[in-house]
Amino acid sequence: MTKDTTVLLNEKRIFNPNAETVEKANVKDWEAEIEKGKDFKRYWAEKAEQFHWFKKWDTVLDDSNKPFYKWFTGGRINLTYNAVDRWIKTEKRNQVAILYANENGDEKKVTYYELYLAVNKFANRLKNLGVKKGERVAMYLPMCPELLVAMLACAKIGAVHNVIYSGLSVGAVVERINDSKAKILVTADGTFRRGKVIELKKITDEALLRCPTVETTIVVEHTGTPIKTSDLSGKEIFYRRFMEKETAECEPEPMESEDPLFILYTSGSTGKPKGVLHTTAGYMVGVATTTRNIFDIHNDDLWWCTGDVGWITGHSYAVYGPLLLGTTTLIYEGAPDFPGPGIWWEIVEKYGVTKFYTSPTAIRHLMRYGNKYPNSYDLSSLKVLGTVGEPMNPEAWMWFYKNIGGEKAPIMDTWWQTETGMHLIAPLPSTALKPGSVTKPFPGIDADIVDEEGNSVPLGKGGYLVVRNPWPAMFRTLYKDKQRYLDTYWNKIPGVYTAGDMARRDEDGYFWIQGRSDDVLKIAGHRVGTAEVESAFVSHPAVAEAAVIGKSDPIKGQVIKAFVILKEGYKLKTRLMENQTKLIEDLERHLRYELGPVAVVGEIVQVDSLPKTRSGKIMRRVLRAQENGEDLGDTSTLED
Ligand code: PRX
Repeated sequence: MTKDTTVLLNEKRIFNPNAETVEKANVKDWEAEIEKGKDFKRYWAEKAEQFHWFKKWDTVLDDSNKPFYKWFTGGRINLTYNAVDRWIKTEKRNQVAILYANENGDEKKVTYYELYLAVNKFANRLKNLGVKKGERVAMYLPMCPELLVAMLACAKIGAVHNVIYSGLSVGAVVERINDSKAKILVTADGTFRRGKVIELKKITDEALLRCPTVETTIVVEHTGTPIKTSDLSGKEIFYRRFMEKETAECEPEPMESEDPLFILYTSGSTGKPKGVLHTTAGYMVGVATTTRNIFDIHNDDLWWCTGDVGWITGHSYAVYGPLLLGTTTLIYEGAPDFPGPGIWWEIVEKYGVTKFYTSPTAIRHLMRYGNKYPNSYDLSSLKVLGTVGEPMNPEAWMWFYKNIGGEKAPIMDTWWQTETGMHLIAPLPSTALKPGSVTKPFPGIDADIVDEEGNSVPLGKGGYLVVRNPWPAMFRTLYKDKQRYLDTYWNKIPGVYTAGDMARRDEDGYFWIQGRSDDVLKIAGHRVGTAEVESAFVSHPAVAEAAVIGKSDPIKGQVIKAFVILKEGYKLKTRLMENQTKLIEDLERHLRYELGPVAVVGEIVQVDSLPKTRSGKIMRRVLRAQENGEDLGDTSTLED
């Protein structure tokens, strides 16, 4: 082990796996497992055997219509049967499936058997409401057991869930519900956040005025905030009543392997959010295998993924991965530093969390409060740690490793995306780690770094991160937009999946992720498209045009820097007639209203013009270069 000094761009430290971890590990020899994965169809087929199939697949991979790959065709399977029903016939029946905790110190434990009953009731009620296989059910809920019940109920009957992160706001909710044409919305009265209740129901009340497809809304009484009864029109029903007197038997729908499981919206570089579509069997195989091997899951684990279920991290690794393995998953509702910066460590100690998966932004945030918080708790139960969402800087890695992992729990820095469904580049507990590197592709994954023509670049050189072979949990298309699917991911560099990230590989073949190659920001790990933020700015009456770039931020990674052209007569400091706030404050409020608190504004600058190409496209590259004090590059296409 080398000295603890942080060398950002030339990180040379290596942390060899500890013998005790390796001895217990599901996969003891990383390189040998990678070797096995080279015969990737066979590798994944073996992994698919772990599930209960109503009918086994005929073909592992159908690649006759690339890039519309199909996995395990001919098979019939049900995710919920495998994640819940299967366990109630075993000794796990009365084991806790979901351990819910929140910032008020409340807790709820839901056993596999209780989960089974709740899911069946919910599923039966959805059927009574006329929800058919393939129809969409939207969810806008806090981190709470009912969210998992609703998702699993959809999967049980073959309805397609569309979970909307509860930190998004009216505009984003409307867009996602309408694009998916959801028939049902499941929401809650509110969510707890830093001692306050955010009234989600108020947000959906407003959103639903613009969502004609929603026939029924189910409202979870989560915070106990009174809801005006007039709001509960005939189209709405409380969760508790919804579940009353319903029979608790529900046959799982034998889904075809390629039947859609869920749509999850994410930001792209242009226009409206993309509906990433995932299907059933391959997704199950991918998330269960990665959860088991990367986090080395065993029967006695208590698993905690802090990622919100409203994003892919929560879908794959707070819900489906752990439940498919029969593990207890801890769901926490609240901020990492409320009521105090020790709250997460208090929870680890209280419940004896063994595997802990979080984000670099959360670590950087908690690191700022110093070592005294983690050091005052017993964190010795932790065996494996993990991070996801953005590059992990070596400083934060070291802090996490020492203060949280006690220099014995390895850190799994996992690279993946909403689109990939599962981890694609990540170590295993038996891997030698380098702080800041995501190490090597998971067994069965053929990732590479290439130039614009698709040629592999030499070691040490930066390039586009691509994947050369298909993998089971890959998304299958963008909902109702095949062309965008092809154009965004497959046509840029023919024959390979282009992830939209830049990366380099070092002399040991370890991957280092450098960031996005497109106009997508990563704010506290959340993906925010510049085009969406620009549209939100322009929808304000005082704004004529806007261009947005990322501004680096020591904690959040990036925040928004906006350049706005205001309409005649406005200045950022102008006081607005109605409420006497300044325009600049109103712009920030407007953005929060449209997009939610994920859209963190760092700076708004008023400008007279924006750099554009002759065809009128904003050249954000020029703004970025200017911001970073770099050379403006080729400006021959610049209009002015
Ligand atoms: O830029 C990469 C970054 O997050 C993007 C995917 O974002 P999203 O679909 O929201 O999913 C986040 C959770 C899977 C990637 O294109 N990213 C994700 N993981 C890492 C990362 N960047 C660096 N290191 C990672 N481990």
